[in-house]
Amino acid sequence: MTENDATIARRKLEHLRIVAEENVVHSGSTLLNDIHLLHRALPELDLEEIDSSTEFFGKRLRAPLMITSMTGGAQIAREMNRALAQVASQHGIAFAVGSQRVIFRHPEMEADFAVRNWIPNGVLLGNIGAGELLEYPPERIRELMNSIEADGMCVHLNAAQELVQAEGHRNFRGLLNAIARLVDTLKGKVLVKETGAGLDPHTFRKLSEIGVPYIDISGAGGTSWTKVEMYRSTEAILQETGKVFADWGIPTAFCIVAARRIFGNKGCIIASGGITSGLDAARAIAAGADIAGFARPALLAYLNGGIEKASEFVEAIIHSLKTAMILTGAPDIKSLQAVPRVYTGELREWLLSFGWLGEKEL
Ligand SMILES: Cc1cc2nc3c(=O)[nH]c(=O)nc-3n(C[C@H](O)[C@H](O)[C@H](O)COP(=O)(O)O)c2cc1C
Repeated sequence: MTENDATIARRKLEHLRIVAEENVVHSGSTLLNDIHLLHRALPELDLEEIDSSTEFFGKRLRAPLMITSMTGGAQIAREMNRALAQVASQHGIAFAVGSQRVIFRHPEMEADFAVRNWIPNGVLLGNIGAGELLEYPPERIRELMNSIEADGMCVHLNAAQELVQAEGHRNFRGLLNAIARLVDTLKGKVLVKETGAGLDPHTFRKLSEIGVPYIDISGAGGTSWTKVEMYRSTEAILQETGKVFADWGIPTAFCIVAARRIFGNKGCIIASGGITSGLDAARAIAAGADIAGFARPALLAYLNGGIEKASEFVEAIIHSLKTAMILTGAPDIKSLQAVPRVYTGELREWLLSFGWLGEKEL
C-alpha cells in the first residue's frame, strides 16, 4: 500500500481532533469495576513507606505506570510528545511515542519523536505498526529505535481500526513471523500492544511461543479506534462498518486475567484501555498486570491545561494508586499483585466461559 505523506500527516491531525472533540469512548465497560479489592481496616502501614517502584526495560520506575503511544507525524505532536515525556520523567513513569512510520519517508520528522532530552534517564519506547514489519527489515526498525535513543520498541496490532480506514491494511498475514524476527533482532526489547480492542487468549499463546517479553493488552472500555475512524470516514460503507464495530473488542479486565493465566510468571503485562484512575491501575495490577498505561486521558489533560494539568493528572493517579495500596495492606507492587480480590458480574461470566474461575481467581 502506498500512501502519500500529506495523507499521513492529515490523518494524524484528524485523529487528534476527533479524539479530543468527539465521543470516542467504547460504550461498554473495561469491567475493572468487577474486580473488588478487599478493604483492609487495619493496614499497619505508613503512606511514607509505600513503595510503588518497579522495574521496566531494565530501569526503575517510581510508579508502575506508562503514558502509552500517541501521535507523531503532525506538527502539534512535537510539542505534545516533549511535554508528556517531561511529565513522565518528572514522575518516574514510562513514556512511549506514537507510530514512527512517517519517518521512513520523512526523516526530518524524527524531531517529533526524539524526546530523549526530555526524559533523560527514564524508560522511553518507540512505536511502529505490525504491518510495517512486512515492508521494512528488522534492522531498519532497530535504526528507528536507536534514532530516538529508545529503550525498546512497541509494535501495534490494530486490525479493527485498519479495516474501518479507507487507506488501511486489509491483509494481516505474516505478522507473527515478522514480530518473531524483530524480537530476535532487538534481543527481546519488544512490546506488542493492541490499540483498544484487546489481545485475546489465542494471540497471547502465539506471542508467548515466540518469546515476546512485554505485552500491552490495550483492552476495550477506553478509546475505541473503530469509533474514531467512523467519525473520520467519508465513505458510507466504512462509516456503517465503523458504527457496527464501534464497541468491538475484549474488556480490559478479562484481557489482564487471561494474559497472566497464559504467560504465567514469564511476561511483563501492561494493562491499558480505559484506565482513568489509580484505583483502576491497582485493580489491574491485583488481577495480574505489572504496569498500567493510559493514552487519551493524558492527552485530554494536556489539551486542557498543558504540562501542568498533565502533571497533575499523573500525580493524582499515583496518589490514588498508593491510597489503594494502603487500603489493601500492600506495601509494594509485589504485595499488590497478591492481595485478595473478588470477581463479580460480567467479568465472572467471561472467566466462567473459559473455565477460569478456579481457586486462583477467588
Ligand atoms: C490520539 C491518539 C493517538 C494514538 N496513536 C497511537 C499510535 O501511533 N500507535 C499506537 O500503538 N497506539 C496509538 N494509540 C493507542 C493508545 O496507545 C492506546 O492503546 C489506546 O488509546 C487505548 O488506551 P486509552 O483508553 O487510555 O486511550 C493512540 C491513542 C490516542 C488517543
